[in-house]
Amino acid sequence: MASTGKPDFDLYRPSEEHDALRDAIRSLAEAKILPHAAEVDEASRFPQEALDALVASDLHAVHVPEEYGGAGADALATVIVIEEVARVCASSSLIPAVNKLGSLPVILSGSEELKRTYLRPLAEGSAMFSYCLSEPDAGSDAAGMKTRAVRDGDHYILNGVKRWITNAGVSEYYTVMAVTDPDKRSKGISAFVVEKSDPGVSFGAPEKKLGIKGSPTREVYLDNVRIPATRMIGDEGTGFATAMKTLDHTRITIAAQALGIAQGALDYAKGYVKERKQFGKPVADFQGVQFMLADMAMKLEAARQLTYSAAAKSERVDSDLTFFGAAAKCFASDVAMEVTTDAVQLLGGYGYTRDYPVERMMRDAKITQIYEGTNQIQRIVMARNLP
Ligand code: CAA
Repeated sequence: MASTGKPDFDLYRPSEEHDALRDAIRSLAEAKILPHAAEVDEASRFPQEALDALVASDLHAVHVPEEYGGAGADALATVIVIEEVARVCASSSLIPAVNKLGSLPVILSGSEELKRTYLRPLAEGSAMFSYCLSEPDAGSDAAGMKTRAVRDGDHYILNGVKRWITNAGVSEYYTVMAVTDPDKRSKGISAFVVEKSDPGVSFGAPEKKLGIKGSPTREVYLDNVRIPATRMIGDEGTGFATAMKTLDHTRITIAAQALGIAQGALDYAKGYVKERKQFGKPVADFQGVQFMLADMAMKLEAARQLTYSAAAKSERVDSDLTFFGAAAKCFASDVAMEVTTDAVQLLGGYGYTRDYPVERMMRDAKITQIYEGTNQIQRIVMARNLP
């Protein structure tokens, strides 16, 4: 449905089912994911407990359509799952988020055979999916990639290096964008499904990051990886457009992650200021502190409305989705950075230590301003697609 310019309140206000889903995921996240969040960060280790809990409750890849064995959740339900997981552990929220990012190219543009082969294991929880667009010298300028895919009979041979690949090494499946015609820039890029077990696939050392330390980020090396031509997603030369269409939808999941991180920090700070006494009374009694909390909640609610509105547009594939996906990601991530920084401030010296979760949340928030396109790139995307 084309956008009328007016929000569709029925779709972007969470329904009773959405509210029930939020209650269920919040209970699960607090019981099974929260207890490990600090240690996962401290040890920079994969949150296996979170993956197990999400798979056991069928919440690890809720976006997969029912016909391929998935839960068939709509875009808003997917946002709610990611938001609630991120509220307790941002690293763990990358499990449902990147499963959507990696597999959406197949859902949007893949053949029936690719969908049947790759979506069912994802839905069952036996395989995760990563997304390989960036390279060492092609980040914001994604169309400047160098990874090559050369046709050889019924096969393609892939060579190159993909960088900043979330969940690399853990995922079984990888959507890889590669150049099939170097003379055509973005129109000479094609998308493929590569499997972890394909000969010639290997991984770099985990990056040592500021935040989301539980989510492995590694390079993916493609060394003469020979795959059947049927693994191409869509037609030759359509890979860049598929990659961009995917990001239109999934930048909203990064907005969801930002909302969750900010909500977690606000909730923690709200509780802390009631307990912490200075000058003979709880610091929550001081108007300076109350104003900070009011601003944090106001910004967060504005970010949530924009994100849910964008999710409704994603579900309907509205004509202004590109603008709204970029706007939600940019706005919500900037809010997450502000709110988490203010939460650290409200806890004072304690907030600056790893004994309290808000410093982790502040570190985790930073990446949401950077990945799936920096917020500078989001502004370019918005400016080119003004509503
Ligand atoms: N939908 C469909 N097609 C699109 C599109 C969209 N949203 N955006 C672009 N295209 C197509 C167009 O058809 C266009 O072709 P035409 O000339 O026929 O119109 C073609 O792609 C090229 O588009 P541009 O000319 O706009 O390309 P550009 O080189 O100027 O780059 C860009 C545009 C917006 C800067 C893009 O490169 C970009 O988004 N860069 C950021 C990359 C990014 O987000 N990376 C994130 C990596 S994933 C990640 O971070 C994952 C993780 O770890 C969680």
